[in-house]
Amino acid sequence: MKKQQFRRFILDSVPVAMVTMDADLKITSFNIRAEELTGYAAHEAIGQPCHMILRSSRCENDCPLQTVASSMESATGLEGEIVDRFGDHVPVRIGTAAIESDDGSFVGYLEVIEDISRQKEMEREKHNFISMVAHDMKSPLIAIGGLINRLKKEQTCKGNEKLQEYLRVIGDAEARLESLAQEFLEYSRLESSQLNLQQSETSIEELLQKVTEIHRPRAEEQKIDLSCECKPLPAIKADADRLHRVFTNILDNAIKYSPEKAEVTISVKETDQEIVIRFKDQGWGIADEELPYIFDAFYRADAKEKSTGHGLGLAAVKAIVRQHGGRVSVTSTPGKGSVFTVRLPKEEKPL
Ligand SMILES: Nc1ncnc2c1ncn2[C@@H]1O[C@H](COP(=O)(O)OP(=O)(O)OP(=O)(O)O)[C@@H](O)[C@H]1O
Ligand SMILES: [Mg+2]
Repeated sequence: MKKQQFRRFILDSVPVAMVTMDADLKITSFNIRAEELTGYAAHEAIGQPCHMILRSSRCENDCPLQTVASSMESATGLEGEIVDRFGDHVPVRIGTAAIESDDGSFVGYLEVIEDISRQKEMEREKHNFISMVAHDMKSPLIAIGGLINRLKKEQTCKGNEKLQEYLRVIGDAEARLESLAQEFLEYSRLESSQLNLQQSETSIEELLQKVTEIHRPRAEEQKIDLSCECKPLPAIKADADRLHRVFTNILDNAIKYSPEKAEVTISVKETDQEIVIRFKDQGWGIADEELPYIFDAFYRADAKEKSTGHGLGLAAVKAIVRQHGGRVSVTSTPGKGSVFTVRLPKEEKPL
């Protein structure tokens, strides 16, 4: 195979659209996937300015190629939309890089565009399904809960211990299902970013102290030494209620997955750009092979035999922290304990 043919073969075999441009942003090559994505044939596209063919939502104010040109740095994972020849909007993920000649001088650009419409559609379907199930579960459950309470008060049941016991068990099961439906619904809203953050100046140390005090009675029940080494920090713009939920979920786990008389310590530190909050426990820990999955919805590591839960707590933590432009991470040693670290930017960062 000749060099030219070989190059063509590679370009047309990759499962993503690949387009090259010269230094004036005129298209110089256009593979088969690019033809499929845009609806333009290669001979129509080549020679045209790229914004005429790759009509993207980013073209006007946020052209990824401008960044490449100014910094000579490549970029990947940029999400946006392309309007194809027929006016349809196609969600895409874009990667860009500068092309240099052998002597290092700038020749043009490469843009790699992946059609992610199927992936977006599946995410939408998953979200709709989850919301629908959770929503439709809630009203019958509320009705069942109400009727159980009424039955408990009926004369025939009042004196009957067995019946009261049955009603208590049914009532507990109903309450568990209702809380699952509620958590389900809230998580699916968070996941789809439907839940707009209500941001205001928030003191992280005050929030941590509040959460610590709420958990103290439970920690004491387990004889756990719970401490918050919180020092004054600059207030940051955040959704205090949602962060309350983040800290509650992590602390709830730290206590739930620790043996009696263990220590749980919260500490904070500040860097130039971030506030870093550490939750350290001396609990059962998490095995290496489980670590990548614990932030996934409904994932419960081997702790599930020893405790109750829905596996949604950390998924909500991740979604909320991400919406704040922050990160959450974990390190753990089985048998010794875990450290969950939440990093929140001091300045608002665009998502
Ligand atoms: N501090 C911890 N120590 C040990 N294991 C942990 C810790 N935090 C989380 N895990 C593991 O990660 C899993 C996922 O945690 P997550 O908070 O999402 O769910 P859950 O606690 O099981 O249920 P939920 O929070 O919805 O009531 C847990 O089931 C547990 O196995
Ligand atoms: Mg939990």
